[in-house]
Amino acid sequence: MKQKVIICGAGGHARSVLDIALQDKLIEVVGCVDPIYPQVKEVPLMKEIPIIGRGCDLTELYQKGHRFVFIAIGDNAVRRKLYHEAVSIGYEPINLISRHAIISPRAILGKGICIMPGAVVNVNTVIGDNCIINTNCSLDHDCIIEEHCHIAPGAAVSGFVRIGEGAHIGTGASIIDRVCIGRGAYIGGRVIKKLSSGC
Ligand SMILES: CC(C)(COP(=O)(O)OP(=O)(O)OC[C@H]1O[C@@H](n2cnc3c(N)ncnc32)[C@H](O)[C@@H]1OP(=O)(O)O)[C@@H](O)C(=O)NCCC(=O)NCCS
Repeated sequence: MKQKVIICGAGGHARSVLDIALQDKLIEVVGCVDPIYPQVKEVPLMKEIPIIGRGCDLTELYQKGHRFVFIAIGDNAVRRKLYHEAVSIGYEPINLISRHAIISPRAILGKGICIMPGAVVNVNTVIGDNCIINTNCSLDHDCIIEEHCHIAPGAAVSGFVRIGEGAHIGTGASIIDRVCIGRGAYIGGRVIKKLSSGC
């Protein structure tokens, strides 16, 4: 039987998450909840997915029998808050893992995690609840990624690294082995020259 899941969020990250969910034959997307409801009732650029309410409607949706949720919000603090709210209502956060990700059978995954296409998770690495493991990033062996982190596209995390709760590892950043990134740290993206706006 399919798991009927509600997606929290309807922005760019939510579309990436939806793309994985829609390819998974064991999942049925009920719809999204987002503050743009009721003004907007379909996911922008993905009109086939309805927006069925706002975050504050999660309790009512639970009372109607919905049980599975995925928090698809890029900002770590907002995602953490909604995750705790959904869990306290009684929802079960599911994992959404691209079939194009490579994950060691010896990796240990928490709940509410998305792993995007091209990501690699190597042996013995532990990923805490509600993390985003984004497109084409790599987490090498024996790492610990605590809850609510975002490893952005193309970031490379070497072996035996610990990343503290809620930290952001920016696009393309490289973390050498055996370092510890503090809780809530924000590591910038790897830029050669930051261009001014107006492109
Ligand atoms: C680090 C970061 C948060 C700084 O943002 P900000 O506070 O708005 O910084 P500004 O754009 O005002 O830049 C301030 C200065 O820092 C430099 N700078 C900004 N980001 C930098 C980076 N990642 N690496 C090196 N220098 C950086 C800018 O060139 C600028 O230098 P200047 O004063 O000499 O001109 C941001 O640039 C960044 O890297 N974010 C990560 C984004 C990301 O990973 N997104 C993933 C989406 S899925």
